[in-house]
Amino acid sequence: MSSIRIEGNRELCGRIKVQGSKNAALPILAATILIPGTTILENCPAIKDVELMLKLLESMGCHTERNGGQLKIDASRTAQCHLKKEYIEGMRSSIILLGAMLGRFGEAHIGYPGGCVIGERPINYHLEALRALGAGIRIEEGQIIAEAEKLKGSTIHFAISSVGATENAILAAVAAEGMTILENAAIEPEITALCGFLRLAGAKIEGIGTRTLRITGSPLHETNYFVPYDRIVAGTYLLAAAAAGGDVVVEHAPAEELKELIKCLKNMEIDLYQHDDGIEVISDRNYQALPHLVTAEYPGFATDLQPQLAAVLTCAKGNSMIEEKIFDNRFGYAAELAKMGASVRIQDRCLFIKGTSGLQGNLLEAKDLRGGAALILAGLMAEGITRIDGCGFVERGYEDIVRDLSSVGAKISYC
Ligand code: EPU
Repeated sequence: MSSIRIEGNRELCGRIKVQGSKNAALPILAATILIPGTTILENCPAIKDVELMLKLLESMGCHTERNGGQLKIDASRTAQCHLKKEYIEGMRSSIILLGAMLGRFGEAHIGYPGGCVIGERPINYHLEALRALGAGIRIEEGQIIAEAEKLKGSTIHFAISSVGATENAILAAVAAEGMTILENAAIEPEITALCGFLRLAGAKIEGIGTRTLRITGSPLHETNYFVPYDRIVAGTYLLAAAAAGGDVVVEHAPAEELKELIKCLKNMEIDLYQHDDGIEVISDRNYQALPHLVTAEYPGFATDLQPQLAAVLTCAKGNSMIEEKIFDNRFGYAAELAKMGASVRIQDRCLFIKGTSGLQGNLLEAKDLRGGAALILAGLMAEGITRIDGCGFVERGYEDIVRDLSSVGAKISYC
């Protein structure tokens, strides 16, 4: 796994580009197996998780071709198969293939995606939803075996608005006979993107962007789609500029989807300007703490930006507290921040941060994707040199964070 070296305490200046969204691209790629023809996706990020999803699609017989940000997926000739354990276990979102495979093949054999370092990640709501649509599902030796001669529309009420379970249900519902009603569905922008893509491909979906989706099964056809910009990558770069100081425009940052982060940055007294082509951050590194921030489902504050914001708050004026409501173990990065002199304390699902006047570079280890990004931001703020091992995790979601941050003047390199 690659390591990253940062010489910190340098202002950032210029324009930084944002890639296409990981969490929109992954379910859309899974959806392409429902289309017996060629899908063309523009702005598809070149990240590890996407490459892994492509390998999974190829093992089912899809032909895939990348040309810069454009991906062509030809799913004319596909077949159900046993998917490689290492690919399935390589990322959590392989589970979204379950609904799509059931829709295309009427059966699916897929390994269990397992838990991960940010907390327990069960799939009970995914399986419940697919069962409600008529799938028979059993678990044998760690394999999920799902079968459905015919998927049938049904009403599903989600106990919690799970992003992945909503996606799985949508993918199976577009291939089901009749109408499916999804109640208390997730409304993250990535769900809206998946529905928008499917609609372009001929799916009948009403209520997009609301907690109740009505989906009527219908045949899908070939289509082209532009993957939206990644709100979490955009948020990470806004926070990088706030932390390091300087004047940076984050191009294509989706302001509407980043409303909660923008509110936080304003409360921290960091200057932000919305332009037609992006958001500008001007920071002199003098910013206030946030007394109580709670992560929540969309439109609340995104859990995927929680670690990066926490890193920035280590040098705020005053004390901050972050309550993590989505995952039960998403403060793994805090011990690494403490090695740099940050004053952090975890209690249950809360992280208490006492603002300090500065961090000191150190040797750190990334343990997950967003936690790794948080350590990179801390490295930008710190005095001296920071080396972060385990940055392969970061490559799962960021095309090239070293390239992007270098483009605005950061002294950052792979080592
Ligand atoms: N949950 C259950 N049972 C289920 C499904 C979820 O108990 O069947 C629980 C989870 O354990 C978790 C909560 O519900 O505590 C929310 O999980 P959700 O299903 O909404 O999340 P996900 O689909 O597994 C997606 C993103 C995550 C992001 C979350 C929340 C993708 C590929 N992943 O995960 O992104 O944090 O939604 O917004 O879309 C990341 O990009 O770094 C990342 C972790």
